[in-house]
Amino acid sequence: MPGRLQDKVAIITGAGTVGPGWGNGKAAAVLFAREGAKILAVDINEKAAEDTRDIIAKEGGTCRVHKADVTKDADVKGMIDACVAAFGRIDILHNNVGGSEPGGPVEMTEEVWDRQMNYNLKHVFLACKHALPVMERQGKGSIINVASVSGLSFTGHFHIAYDSAKAGLIKFTKALGVNYARKGIRCNCVIPGQMHTPLVDTRLAKQYRGGDFQGMLAERQKRIPMGHMGDAWDVAYAALFLASDEAKYVTAADIVVDGGLTSKCN
Ligand SMILES: NC(=O)c1ccc[n+]([C@@H]2O[C@H](COP(=O)([O-])OP(=O)(O)OC[C@H]3O[C@@H](n4cnc5c(N)ncnc54)[C@H](O)[C@@H]3O)[C@@H](O)[C@H]2O)c1
Repeated sequence: MPGRLQDKVAIITGAGTVGPGWGNGKAAAVLFAREGAKILAVDINEKAAEDTRDIIAKEGGTCRVHKADVTKDADVKGMIDACVAAFGRIDILHNNVGGSEPGGPVEMTEEVWDRQMNYNLKHVFLACKHALPVMERQGKGSIINVASVSGLSFTGHFHIAYDSAKAGLIKFTKALGVNYARKGIRCNCVIPGQMHTPLVDTRLAKQYRGGDFQGMLAERQKRIPMGHMGDAWDVAYAALFLASDEAKYVTAADIVVDGGLTSKCN
């Protein structure tokens, strides 16, 4: 039986993970490949993308690794050219790179603010700048941006640049979706809540609770109506729908994957 993305070509940025386990990009790459897509796994850490490729290859899928820093224009252009050279087209652009640094305007340096904007917003602008002409020539394409509930509401931690960039990304998605709707190009975003990915284990605990990992987990889970965090597969399945032709009438939209978090008052 053909997969839900049979013979489509997908670029996944941040296709590795920062630690052992499943991150959002890695799960999306493996899931999209299971559904028949050919994958360009893009990561600044080549080894991390190779781990993802090895999983896909073992399952009989197709994946090539491309090393790039998606905050750099030349690297992003190289990524798009590499995909077209390898597979001839780009059906799906999954912009997954991102992450937070803590602080408000007083504590945060200007350098961190700029870095956060590049890391969470500008790279999507760059990827779209170079991918859209290819998709326009094809008359078809699906762009999926990975935002965050931090772009919708206050989730318990003050990271002003991340909140602002992810809110910008949600708006970027809607503006792009509307303006490319007649060209056959859809643009949507997944808005994850508090997901248990390697990022949480490796970085966030140190950032917020001075290494008190169990304390941080308990604090995260308490806030969520479902009482537990989601995982990378929850995000990947929402992205799969948006990437597939099942979502052919869905554009400029978002899917919130947060166990009810953002619909709760306190
Ligand atoms: N984990 C969560 O709880 C959560 C919640 C909401 C939103 N998100 C969003 O999900 C996305 C992915 O999060 P994750 O936790 O799976 O990611 P992650 O931190 O595990 O990173 C995935 C990969 O991105 C790569 N990467 C980092 N900077 C890069 C760059 N400049 N160019 C190319 N690759 C780069 C890393 O090397 C890593 O392999 C992010 O946009 C994040 O904001 C995560």
